[in-house]
Amino acid sequence: AHVWQGVLREFADRLDVTDASTVVSLGEGGTPLVHARELSRITGADVWVKFEGMNPTGSFKDRGMTVALSRAVEHGAKAVICASTGNTSASAAAYAAHAGITAAVLVPEGKIAMGKLSQAVAHGGTLIQIRGNFDDCLEIARELADNYPVHLVNSVNPDRIDGQKTAAYEVVSQLGDAPDFHFIPVGNAGNYTAYSRGYREESARGASTRVPRMFGFQAAGSAPLVRGEVVKNPDTIATAIRIGNPASWDLALEARDATDGWFGAIDDDRILAAQKLLASTAGVFVEPASAISVAGLLDRAEAGVVPAGAKVVLTVTGHGLKDPQWALRNPDGTDAEPIVVDATTSEVASVLELAPQA
Ligand code: F0G
Repeated sequence: AHVWQGVLREFADRLDVTDASTVVSLGEGGTPLVHARELSRITGADVWVKFEGMNPTGSFKDRGMTVALSRAVEHGAKAVICASTGNTSASAAAYAAHAGITAAVLVPEGKIAMGKLSQAVAHGGTLIQIRGNFDDCLEIARELADNYPVHLVNSVNPDRIDGQKTAAYEVVSQLGDAPDFHFIPVGNAGNYTAYSRGYREESARGASTRVPRMFGFQAAGSAPLVRGEVVKNPDTIATAIRIGNPASWDLALEARDATDGWFGAIDDDRILAAQKLLASTAGVFVEPASAISVAGLLDRAEAGVVPAGAKVVLTVTGHGLKDPQWALRNPDGTDAEPIVVDATTSEVASVLELAPQA
């Protein structure tokens, strides 16, 4: 059996890796592409889910971080820095720990999920909460990297985009071709840019017959690309994509135009309903920001944009365990009530409405 070696070794020829290269890897990539039967039934399309929560730190960030940290170490960096809504900080801290260098991470105070916060701390990163939003954090991280001996590992670093392209390579080999449509969450639009590049490379080298239309989704309270202007106070429960001024804005517009793509906005209620639908029908638990791919598909299918039988891939970017509190809430905002009974078989059978066997 082939044992997966991480994206730098698996795609060595495409990522310029030689025997002399430094490789900092936790075995990222090689994630499942899961068929979504119920979503296919609802939409009439053939729907597949690229489950990026299965990466080592639970998000797609690991694909880019292995490249960014490997190249940072190769250039002699002793410290990396990033701004983050949570997943980048978890990934940077883990890969820096593995490489034996330090990581500093800047996050918006009170606006990152507990799972992500605990990862950054567990991996020994210096976590600094900033009284501001993600956009403020990124500005400070960039200024620090320009003026101090710290290496920036946000997706404005092209090494990150390089690594994240590998998810599109994998989809093409998993499906045998590129899909007709690709749905993906958008924050800084780095991943949207990475997939569109990866797909265009695959088609250029003859590995696929098409480039999918790239459909990107932002939360309604945090949708600068849809509105065409910076959002000063972005707001959404999908904290991973609570970003008002995307770093890869221009690259994203280029990618949209080159792929006949589209940007849409989805409100928080529909994000949470989509999270529940995916978890309960496909067995794939994702964080709220990731569920926007599912909500986006339902929205576009209802609008009649997705033809019957179309091949559709949804990227779900982060694991549900990162931010589990939302799954324990009812749609009306109340907490889901646990069922508690005495320790008797008959009590449990009665809750399950099981009748004794004849
Ligand atoms: N989904 C998740 C779970 C994310 O964490 C992010 C970005 C995105 C989607 C959007 O990706 O920025 O490339 O458009 N999270 C960053 C972070 C900002 O700091 O973890 P993008």
